[in-house]
Amino acid sequence: MSKERAYNFSAGPSMLPLTVIEDVAANLANYEGCGESVMEMSHRSKEFKAILSDAEQNLRDIMNIPENYKVLFLQGGGTLQFAMVPLNLMRNTGKADYVVTGAWAKKAAKEAQKFGDVKIVASSEESTFSYIPEVKKEDFREDADYVHITLNNTIYGTRYPYIPETGDIPLVADMSSNILSEEIDVTKFGLIYAGAQKNVAPAGVTIVIIREDLLGHAKETVPTYLDYKIHADNDSAYNTPNCFAIYVAGEVFKYIKNIGGIAAMQKMNEEKAQKLYDYIDSSELYTCPTRKEDRSLMNVVFVTGDTDLDKKFVAEGKAAGLHNLGGHRSIGGMRASIYNAMPAEGVDKLIDFMKKFEAENK
Ligand SMILES: Cc1ncc(COP(=O)(O)O)c(C=O)c1O
Repeated sequence: MSKERAYNFSAGPSMLPLTVIEDVAANLANYEGCGESVMEMSHRSKEFKAILSDAEQNLRDIMNIPENYKVLFLQGGGTLQFAMVPLNLMRNTGKADYVVTGAWAKKAAKEAQKFGDVKIVASSEESTFSYIPEVKKEDFREDADYVHITLNNTIYGTRYPYIPETGDIPLVADMSSNILSEEIDVTKFGLIYAGAQKNVAPAGVTIVIIREDLLGHAKETVPTYLDYKIHADNDSAYNTPNCFAIYVAGEVFKYIKNIGGIAAMQKMNEEKAQKLYDYIDSSELYTCPTRKEDRSLMNVVFVTGDTDLDKKFVAEGKAAGLHNLGGHRSIGGMRASIYNAMPAEGVDKLIDFMKKFEAENK
């Protein structure tokens, strides 16, 4: 490679652990001496079956997923889950309660409205989603089929500091931008979904963790691919899955296991985020618009208050090897996504750059 690898602060797809990339590269043409690349391999081959079952087992181990949950590797991203969740889980009354904490949560609710009776129980839209509203069990309709939350809000840089209590109503969580970043108690959820392209793998595979009693409720008119039970009954190989992305995901799960599991990952993530937020809070140029208690460990959003200066920051950052520091196109400003694979040195380099930029642009 002629050019050094940059620190890539993209919100997704984003950085993967370098050791995983190197290992994948070493096995690219001939996977573990089997004579084929994973890119060419039949999804029914014994080699791929082992890749798939190892990936599932390692994910179960690191997330501590109980036996009564199925793990599925699907396609269609988080976006397809916005439809699959209501199509499978609106199984009794057709009512679903959504907490709207960002643009993705809003899209999820809007999609579900196509299929049933959706209530927005709480929203922080009036303050550009700068905080997580507090929701209690009494806020949900007793006969709701499920409650949906977006645990980490990629665009606005917030995350739930608590898991809402929903009693017997299954809690569904979009964890696209924080899965594997911190320890979570899977038993608190009926269903968890996450597109892989932030903390797990290249884009193209979506992880679904679903409690078994929630399987088998899709109506007959639901397209076959959109029925979770089909995938659960066929071990995520009803049709051709995204073999390569599943393989890389499996390597990432092994990597996390080897460094001490999600607890170790969480510690590193907390240190990285703390350092960056502390610096932003102490600076005179940058401000972070999110409520302190709700700040994301993964997506750190900040602004200078001057749109032109923000643009200059992003351009100069890129020139300094700090890529993709622009905020989401809908809100502008800056966003440093510091997912699992962003090394601590990347955050140190960013803070050094921010200090230099502040001194030069007072
Ligand atoms: C929290 C969240 N949910 C859903 C999505 C949509 O995911 P996908 O592009 O995989 O459909 C994103 C994308 O960034 C996201 O951040």
